[in-house]
Amino acid sequence: MNILLLGSGGREHALAWKMSQSNLLTKLFIAPGNTGTALCGTNVNIAATDFESIKKFCVDNAVEMIVVGPEEPLVKGIYDFFKEDAAISHIPVIGPSKKGALLEGSKAFAKAFMQTHNIPSAAYREFDESNYEEGVAYLQSHALPIVLKADGLAAGKGVIICQNYIEAVAEFELMIQQSKFGEASKKVVVESFLSGIEMSVFVLTDGNHYVILPDAKDYKRIGEGDKGLNTGGMGAISPVPFADKVFMQKIIDKIVEPTIEGIRKDKLEYAGFVFIGIIKVDDEPFVIEYNCRMGDPETEVVMPRLKNDLVTLFEATAQQKLNEIKIETDPRSAATVVAVSGGYPGEYEKGKPIEGLDLIQEEETIVFHAGTKQQGDGIVTAGGRVLAVTSFGSTVQKAVEKSKSILEIIEFDGMHFRKDIGYEFY
Ligand code: AMP
Ligand code: GLY
Repeated sequence: MNILLLGSGGREHALAWKMSQSNLLTKLFIAPGNTGTALCGTNVNIAATDFESIKKFCVDNAVEMIVVGPEEPLVKGIYDFFKEDAAISHIPVIGPSKKGALLEGSKAFAKAFMQTHNIPSAAYREFDESNYEEGVAYLQSHALPIVLKADGLAAGKGVIICQNYIEAVAEFELMIQQSKFGEASKKVVVESFLSGIEMSVFVLTDGNHYVILPDAKDYKRIGEGDKGLNTGGMGAISPVPFADKVFMQKIIDKIVEPTIEGIRKDKLEYAGFVFIGIIKVDDEPFVIEYNCRMGDPETEVVMPRLKNDLVTLFEATAQQKLNEIKIETDPRSAATVVAVSGGYPGEYEKGKPIEGLDLIQEEETIVFHAGTKQQGDGIVTAGGRVLAVTSFGSTVQKAVEKSKSILEIIEFDGMHFRKDIGYEFY
């Protein structure tokens, strides 16, 4: 089978790495890809949201399946674009329809979905220009802290946790009246704050059946001890030590089953990943958010622990046969530690030569590329998150230690990585 994977980050390198191990694969193309995906297939210089060019490429190259890495093409409707065009409607898109992608693309849609289907989540109200004054009054009578969420996609920056009323009202005004996040914040979800520990659950569904992939936990803050600014993700571990059988069963019964049932009942056409951000409050799971794609950097630990053939899973997804699949998982722990550019998540420079990549020959380690670029004979930095180094170990701590020792071999000007990924579980 010829497959086109859309995206260009560490997540896509991990998906490409896993798909390239499949006997079912003939050719793998990645658009636009990065230096890492080029090791697993052929990069194609097309943006993941340029649907017309993607269509032409698929027709010209006999592509038989599209796998979508990031959310943007899904929220913009790539699934429907393919389905509605007779020239390409035979090519399955692994991902949800535009309506299904609203689970990520609209926080208000996701909250209403959870309420309808009795899925545990924080209490909320939604506001826009039409009920703005009511919103201000609501905020001022709400318990602190208060969570404000831009309804639409805001590149991971649309959630603001306010510790006092002055800040809450100011942010509310900025979001709705001053379009702080453009169209995305014309509507705002105001939510109660939940206190607990977070984890990520990954479900692959064909719209009727589902399988659960290895669980993971990511580390979003730039600084050790989860301090400082939010980033795209500084590391991840899998499995999650506190997600024991009892807790996972609660997640399945109270969240996963009703979510898949809700997708079916609401006729949200869906043939792809549902990433459920969970928070454990006391011993109960609540949904923090849905995403319609895999997580990054979680994919860099989930794919290495998944023993099943990924192309087989995608085929079963497209053919609505996921009920025939049994997921098999590597029992070892995996950890990924992300090396970022100096200054990230603020301003940073690109184009720094990366040294040492050719010296790594460890069997239990995989170096996934996130923001890298080929320049002449060398590889240079091309983004904030540059590399995600994944290792296996008998414990989380051993896996993290291994990735850190590999990162000691790699060098680029300004390189930074967190030394404490998985610290709660040492
Ligand atoms: P999101 O962009 O929806 O992933 O939210 C970003 C982060 O904000 C989450 O990973 C949580 O750490 C935090 N967050 C979101 N909603 C809540 C909530 N209701 N209570 C506490 N923290 C939250
Ligand atoms: N790691 C969180 C995300 O991919 O949204």
